[in-house]
Amino acid sequence: MKPTFSVDQLSSPEVVRNPYPYYDLLRDQSPVFGYRDFPPGTMPGVDEPKPSWVVLNFDHVSAVAWDHESFSSRDSLQEESSAPSLMLVNHDRPEHTRLRKISAKAFQPASIKSLAPEVDLLVAACMDDFFVPDQPVDVMADYCAMLPSKVMAYLFGMPAEMGRDVRNWATAFMLSADISAEERQAYNIEAMAFFEQHVKERMDLIAKGKETPGPLLNAFIRTEVDGESLSYEEVVRFCMTATVAGAETTSFYLGNLITVFADFPDIWHGFVDDPKLFDPIYKETLRFHGPPQRLFRVATRDITIGNADIKRGDWVACFFGAANYDPEAFPEPYEFRLNRKNANRHMSFGYGIHRCLGAPLAQLEAESTARMLRERYTHIERAGEAVWQDVSLLNHGLANNPVVFRGRT
Ligand code: HEM
Repeated sequence: MKPTFSVDQLSSPEVVRNPYPYYDLLRDQSPVFGYRDFPPGTMPGVDEPKPSWVVLNFDHVSAVAWDHESFSSRDSLQEESSAPSLMLVNHDRPEHTRLRKISAKAFQPASIKSLAPEVDLLVAACMDDFFVPDQPVDVMADYCAMLPSKVMAYLFGMPAEMGRDVRNWATAFMLSADISAEERQAYNIEAMAFFEQHVKERMDLIAKGKETPGPLLNAFIRTEVDGESLSYEEVVRFCMTATVAGAETTSFYLGNLITVFADFPDIWHGFVDDPKLFDPIYKETLRFHGPPQRLFRVATRDITIGNADIKRGDWVACFFGAANYDPEAFPEPYEFRLNRKNANRHMSFGYGIHRCLGAPLAQLEAESTARMLRERYTHIERAGEAVWQDVSLLNHGLANNPVVFRGRT
């Protein structure tokens, strides 16, 4: 007999550490009502989560994420909270279409690729600073925490030492650190004040025809589509959005990738022998240890999903992480397999009109990290227990990830 498990236990620390077996216990009931948890940007201790439907199966998650007309991304809880509202993620059409058109041009995969040399320099510098061969190193504490934030600081033309601030701002918004509501609020205020000032200065310089550092910020300011560009307020909010959507998710993803290398030596050695394996390893890691576990939607009309009659105004938690472990979509989901025919169908970048805009950038950071690990080291070994964060189901990632790098250098 299956152990009893109820949907209101989904946010307990034990589940957050390793949610997959618990999804399996609820999967037959999907969509099931009665989960309460915090969307990004809201404040535990201040805001009150809404009771929500939990959607776990691949088909149900796809149906909800795809049907942006029936399931709105506008989040009244966040809108009413003191947190800055985000661009795109919390917009519906038609506003989403206008913003996505302009920002997608700024984020074009080709221009992201042109960032590779600078990302490589940052990866190399972080490895030089934080990794000591043959000695245990907690890759979460420094490398994974700092690389995406340093990349973001570079993209916005911020002083390099502000990487630590970017990190703090993202962590405060994304809920995975156990910090007080007052600290969260203070970080939000600090981040918005910085971006308001910084964007203003940069727009003034650009208006005077000056060259300014920060390729992504420049693209946000300069990009025009059909004669339309982003307003000052929109550029500021895009900086905030890219910070919170891009820094922590990528930190967790890099940690999860290094965990795969440390915990599956065959995968690591296979990659050392054949660098072309990066692509399937990257995708399967997104499925196997995908950072975002769930995001919320709000039903805009009465609608039936599976056996559930969802009413207009109901909150729906779309569990991308559970879809990635649905055995109907990914047979033997607890096996890390490099030959999945549908490897690309993982849900870790979302699905539909809100699919991750920063995916090429995340891939660039992951690819550069893996390539340089391979060039520098022959072995990656576990040096202590990998501890998964247990504060929020928003992102599945490690709090501590001690490994030893051995080899070539
Ligand atoms: C491994 C790293 C990352 C993961 C797993 C990830 C995951 C996601 C997911 C699941 C969504 C869909 C949200 C929804 O459906 O409501 C999303 C959207 C988004 N992501 Fe990412 N992300 C990552 C990295 C980044 C980076 C590096 C950036 C930017 C610098 C970024 C910017 C965005 C933006 C702007 C959206 C909103 C798109 C829209 O609503 O149209 N992400 N991401």
